[in-house]
Amino acid sequence: MNTKSITTPITKLCGIRYPILQGGMIWVSGSRLTAAVSNAGGLGVLGSGSMRPDALREEIQKTRSLTSNPFGVNIPISFKYTEEHIKTVCEQRIPVVITSAGSPKKYTETLHNAGCKVFHVVPTAMLARKCEDAGVNAVIAEGTEAGGHNGYEEITTMVLIPSVRDAVKIPVIAAGGIMDGRTMAAAFALGADAVQIGTRFAASEESDAHPSYKQAIIDAKEGDSLLLLKKLGPTRMIRTPFALKIKDKEDAGAGKEELVALLGEHKAREGASLGNIQEGILEAGQVISRINKIQSAGDIVAEIMNEFAIVCGKMHNI
Ligand SMILES: Cc1cc2nc3c(=O)[nH]c(=O)nc-3n(C[C@H](O)[C@H](O)[C@H](O)COP(=O)(O)O)c2cc1C
Repeated sequence: MNTKSITTPITKLCGIRYPILQGGMIWVSGSRLTAAVSNAGGLGVLGSGSMRPDALREEIQKTRSLTSNPFGVNIPISFKYTEEHIKTVCEQRIPVVITSAGSPKKYTETLHNAGCKVFHVVPTAMLARKCEDAGVNAVIAEGTEAGGHNGYEEITTMVLIPSVRDAVKIPVIAAGGIMDGRTMAAAFALGADAVQIGTRFAASEESDAHPSYKQAIIDAKEGDSLLLLKKLGPTRMIRTPFALKIKDKEDAGAGKEELVALLGEHKAREGASLGNIQEGILEAGQVISRINKIQSAGDIVAEIMNEFAIVCGKMHNI
């Protein structure tokens, strides 16, 4: 395998060397991480879900000053400022816009008219089919191992990727539980054309995550990633004292209102940006138990691609 570049339908659509997308992450994927991943040959993605409209415009300019390679913007559709963010990415002609947490129907045509490719994140094959009907260019199939907001159906990556592959003709990007060459090769074996990685990049040098948050990822062990808030909007996070408060309330049968009251407004910011690992929420996937060092995003991409080539070579010889 040529490890200098790999061609798949997704590398062609994005104009990138390696089929690795860095997942858009609220409070975590700003211009430094996005540019570092794009400079390494993958597709860096700004997480606009935590940005005000002026901040997104500023982060786009900063990213452009740090890389001349393509990068994307993630827009969670049900969050604040969606209309403004859509307008910004259209004006700025962002090559790839990743929409999530909402219907793919609403903005795909507008984005296409502005020349943006649209990828939508899905937790089921049924939604993947709807995305294809809505005209998106690719789907990102995200299994329940993934950090952050998750599907209600709790389908694992192992089951989801082949189901989505069989359900649609458009390219499929696999997400959830992928962090190295072995898991990337597994995703390709399941039918993916690329992978999206979040948690491992959250623990990279260039991520905006607070150092205490990165350290919490490094320190985490098996079973320290919890899928909570199943009634409100399932979210995978690290087992912190606050996460255990949520769990206790849920185990005691708390309803939506009680959970909303417990959460307040800024728990993700408190954990991710301010590093309050006691009272904040630290979104992260099951792979936290496998991440044991903080590296540059460039080293992460290079390491994954080297291992991917070795694993694919071994499978070829079976
Ligand atoms: C800290 C964190 C924040 C995230 N924020 C978002 C977000 O704003 N929008 C989104 O579509 N996905 C979000 N995700 C999901 C990632 O983009 C990615 O799909 C996921 O992390 C992949 O699974 P992994 O964590 O196993 O690598 C987030 C994930 C993490 C870990």
